[in-house]
Amino acid sequence: MTTATAWQCMAVGPAAAELVAELQNRCLPEIGAEAWSAEGVRDMLAVSGTVGCLASEAESPAGVALGRQVADEFELLFLGVLAEHRRRGCGAQLLNWQLAQAKNHSAARCYLEVAEGNRGARALYQNAGFQRVGVRLGYYRDSSGLQHDALLLCKTVR
Ligand SMILES: CC(C)(COP(=O)(O)OP(=O)(O)OC[C@H]1O[C@@H](n2cnc3c(N)ncnc32)[C@H](O)[C@@H]1OP(=O)(O)O)[C@@H](O)C(=O)NCCC(=O)NCCS
Repeated sequence: MTTATAWQCMAVGPAAAELVAELQNRCLPEIGAEAWSAEGVRDMLAVSGTVGCLASEAESPAGVALGRQVADEFELLFLGVLAEHRRRGCGAQLLNWQLAQAKNHSAARCYLEVAEGNRGARALYQNAGFQRVGVRLGYYRDSSGLQHDALLLCKTVR
């Protein structure tokens, strides 16, 4: 059950790429995705319309979220919380932070992809009002080479 914690959410840019990539990679085992490089994250955060958010507790980083606005659509590119900080509201707060960005930039809708088997993330997004609008067959490939379907979820932002 989520307990109330005052997560400090802070916008981050390309200068924080190393820390962001490190956090992303520490969240990766569950989603079995390829490792992020600091260079790749730096490039991503340098693209206009991309917003990064770092959540911390007592100045200790706990989670990270990346999103990108293109025209009137916002895409959640990454959301992850370190295992030791989960189920305490950090993921929901990061998601709300990104949705607020989408709203501030007048996005009409927010999209994201989630692995079909990722029950925790699917529950989080469902609670936040996201709905399934499509499926991408074999979208993810895990470290053993197995392919997994992704669900495409959408939430109206305006
Ligand atoms: C998904 C993830 C970001 C959730 O972060 P979190 O900080 O634990 O989420 P929250 O504490 O804010 O959870 C909010 C609600 O989402 C749901 N939820 C979150 N994790 C859940 C889980 N493992 N099982 C069931 N429900 C879950 C619950 O309804 C929860 O509310 P509750 O704790 O009061 O029941 C985190 O588990 C994670 O980083 N996983 C690995 C990376 C990943 O899968 N990212 C998403 C890729 S699309």
